[in-house]
Amino acid sequence: MSEVHSEKDVLILAIESSCDETAAAVVKNGRDMLSNVISSQIKLHTLYGGVVPEIASRKHIEKINQVIEEALYEAGVTLDDIDAIGVTYGPGLVGALLVGVSAAKAIAFAKNKPLVGVHHIEGHVSANFIEHKDLKPPFLCLIVSGGHTHLVMMKDYGEFEIIGRTRDDAAGEAFDKVARAIGLGYPGGPKIDKAAREGNPHAMEFPRAHVADSPYDFSFSGLKSAVLNYINHANMLGEEISVPDIAASFQNAVVDVLVEHSMLAAKEYGVDKIVMAGGVASNSALRAGMQKACEENNLEFYFPSPILCTDNAAMIGAAAYFEYIKGTRHGFDLNAVPNLKLGER
Ligand code: KG4
Ligand code: ZN
Repeated sequence: MSEVHSEKDVLILAIESSCDETAAAVVKNGRDMLSNVISSQIKLHTLYGGVVPEIASRKHIEKINQVIEEALYEAGVTLDDIDAIGVTYGPGLVGALLVGVSAAKAIAFAKNKPLVGVHHIEGHVSANFIEHKDLKPPFLCLIVSGGHTHLVMMKDYGEFEIIGRTRDDAAGEAFDKVARAIGLGYPGGPKIDKAAREGNPHAMEFPRAHVADSPYDFSFSGLKSAVLNYINHANMLGEEISVPDIAASFQNAVVDVLVEHSMLAAKEYGVDKIVMAGGVASNSALRAGMQKACEENNLEFYFPSPILCTDNAAMIGAAAYFEYIKGTRHGFDLNAVPNLKLGER
């Protein structure tokens, strides 16, 4: 599908509430972010070492209207200027998703605007359309977040072929679990990223798992166990552990596997562009490792700035725009789908 803009600008009000961020944004023509308001609950969940679903839902209810109002205000528009409402309806925490979906349906109904349900992962990928105005499919995309690790071919807007996925933990989940084990707390990704800068990435050789018969799939649970075993062993011997060295060595193992699989897939599928998306895509070692490999293999490399990597609504607005111009519309029976598959409608 070519990217044909109609004469008139298309303004999407987008809503995201799938996990622990209550977010709303106004996006013009899928590429221009007029506002991007994010109310993060991270501090609240840090107390418990991870996201507590019930608390997340309650906080979304408290914040959603305020966040939407702020997004409209910052964009300098009113609901009357909006052409369609885009909303994440899966995957994610069901109670959390329901808050955004209900708000979107209420606005669409009250203002008689089209409703476009968006897959959260399609949103993450689409953050790149805001960051890189000329980026167009086809490309290979590595999606690495707290809940997902996917290698996909984006053949066209909204058209995905999944070529690899994690068999167990997502990359971000592994970061979070290892961070907890070495006492860095939640959310682990940014903390490991920071600690690793002071550490030696070759201090320990943690395993790089390969999934038999599936060169593009990932597995991170063995790596996580190896780190935990290392810590237990050191504790038993009464030896001190080096948090920076463990962080750097663990991170290096994750980066190696992500880069290696991406390069293999790029070659096999004959692409010239690699795109990264999701919270872990803001990891500095992953960016550096992927950049280097892309240069060596003559591939163009794209990734969003950190604020567009982690959960936000602008990315949902970008995805909703491309779905909207393709004609995707949802009815008022749109429901939260916690395990929504990529490419499903
Ligand atoms: O995309 P995201 O905000 O939420 C999901 O859809 O899951 O990703 C959150 C995940 C968390 O696991 C967090 O630890 C990880 O992204 N993350 C990072 C970094 N920043 C966030 N992981 C590694 N390095 C980072 N700098
Ligand atoms: Zn996400």
